[in-house]
Amino acid sequence: MRIAVFPGSFDPLTSGHVDIIRRGAKMFDRIIVAILLNAEKAPLFTAAERVRLIREVFTDTPSVEADTFDGLLVDYVRRQQAHVIVRGLRAVSDFEYEMQMALMNRHLSPDVETVFMMPAEQYTYVSSRLVKEVASLGGSVHGLVPDAVEARLLEKHRARTSQKA
Ligand code: PNS
Repeated sequence: MRIAVFPGSFDPLTSGHVDIIRRGAKMFDRIIVAILLNAEKAPLFTAAERVRLIREVFTDTPSVEADTFDGLLVDYVRRQQAHVIVRGLRAVSDFEYEMQMALMNRHLSPDVETVFMMPAEQYTYVSSRLVKEVASLGGSVHGLVPDAVEARLLEKHRARTSQKA
């Protein structure tokens, strides 16, 4: 059984993440999308909301699972009996951070391999941070996130603007 873990904050899941997960699902028997708990002090989506959205988007792909983790990623990977960490690489600017993480994880657990995948070109500029910023200012993120995420972002924006009014 080839099991991979795709870790991240996923606050929220973007179309770039979806692209990487779908590519990963072709390579592995199971791919666990693992949300790091407490990464940010004030996430826009709770961990439970993020798990729910990922499950909703991948209802058609049973090999894709959503979970949360705390502590060291390599410990979580070991508990899942996985040997691969999947990360997306969008641009050269991602490389330094990703290389440091991959080498640190290799130092901590030499039998865990990090596999980098590139998303489709149209997602190379998409990040959760920019998606949140644009959506919070009323801009369109259509196509940059799955429809279910877009709908939740719109709801959150409406709730905030009606509170202010
Ligand atoms: O989506 P992100 O925020 O870039 O994901 C970062 C993540 C969750 C992969 C990284 O912060 C992580 O693995 N954190 C767990 C703590 C850990 O294992 N740190 C040491 C290895 S770098």
